[in-house]
Amino acid sequence: MELKIGLEGVAIAETKITCVDGEHGRLIFRGYYITELVKEKTYEEVVFLILNGQFPSAAELKTLDETLKKNRALPEHIKSILKALPKNTLAMQAIRTAVSALQVSGEPWPPTQAQALEIFAKIPTIITYFYNTQRGAAITEPCNDLSHAANYLYMLHGKQASAAHVKALETYFMLSIDHGMNASTFTARVVAATQENMVGAITAAISALDGPLHGGAPSKVADMLHDIGTAENAEPWIRAQLEAGKRLMGFGHRVYKTYDPRALALKAVTQEFASDNNPLFKLALYVEEVALKLLEEYKPGRKLYTNLEYWTAGVLRTVQLPEALYTPTFCLSRVAGWSANIIEQSENNRLIRPGAIYVGKDPH
Ligand code: ACO
Repeated sequence: MELKIGLEGVAIAETKITCVDGEHGRLIFRGYYITELVKEKTYEEVVFLILNGQFPSAAELKTLDETLKKNRALPEHIKSILKALPKNTLAMQAIRTAVSALQVSGEPWPPTQAQALEIFAKIPTIITYFYNTQRGAAITEPCNDLSHAANYLYMLHGKQASAAHVKALETYFMLSIDHGMNASTFTARVVAATQENMVGAITAAISALDGPLHGGAPSKVADMLHDIGTAENAEPWIRAQLEAGKRLMGFGHRVYKTYDPRALALKAVTQEFASDNNPLFKLALYVEEVALKLLEEYKPGRKLYTNLEYWTAGVLRTVQLPEALYTPTFCLSRVAGWSANIIEQSENNRLIRPGAIYVGKDPH
């Protein structure tokens, strides 16, 4: 058996969903470049595309929209679970717990798009219900006049967000909807391949996403910028990190060996919103420049560039999301991609069962 630690360079499935071209920095959803999708399509259209492989007709888009709106409200038992969680529960733990307790319609196997949409529609409500309950704020029920992203911001802040903020968040959602065989998507497929149901597969994917090397980085990027504080401190701070063998959050990627195209698109969105003299944006631009220079100096040839998570922090801060909700918001956007992968796995299923090479003691 060949040893491939981290499964690098190993394909576990054929897919028609997403192509990640790491060498050239290109990302394709169902045959369309994401750079084009974010300019021309709405988030709901891209959700339909990811799940169905084609753009919706007007009637299909209306049905998707109505299905999502109809499924936003939380059942009473989920509200009770969220209210009963200890005060120090983190939002990702709360989402994982609530999702694992959801009941969806239909048979457990094979997983269906209807089940996926029932879960997907509720994630923003779970996040905002938990967050507002935990800090003793008023609960804002879902508003069915608003899109998925607009309703999320509305439930979070208790008032409608500006069109510009909704557009920024939708851009982020579209860019992070799916990304090849990353750890959480792989987890979703491994679990689905055992013929576990949609709820179980998505619950497992949420756990995988929560780790700091995957979805847990954006709030760490915010922490890093906060710690650095000033442009003068950027170089000594980054040098000290690299000298100590620590990683810079928001840089490096297993697949991209060039600038992450999603980061580039988000940097453009952040730039659109940040006025020229916005101190945080200026600091983020400068820290990025210094970090790329020092990564090349300390890690020559490793091809470490900016990843999605670096500029995610900029967009999420712009739309006034609290840092505690950065990873949950990433999770919210990924559910549609996980669902597409779970359904694709079920359509041509084979149990995923790699081996391991035993290097322990021989029996006595
Ligand atoms: N800062 C400093 N050094 C780094 C970084 C970084 N961010 N990323 C990789 N390196 C170094 C490693 O120390 C290693 O150096 P070595 O050859 O001297 O041992 C070399 O680059 C290769 O690192 P690997 O761990 O093999 O790279 P891998 O492909 O496994 O890592 C990962 C990818 C986990 C994303 C990594 O780059 C990292 O930890 N980045 C910081 C966390 C982060 O930004 N996560 C978000 C990822 S994007 C997403 O999930 C949407």
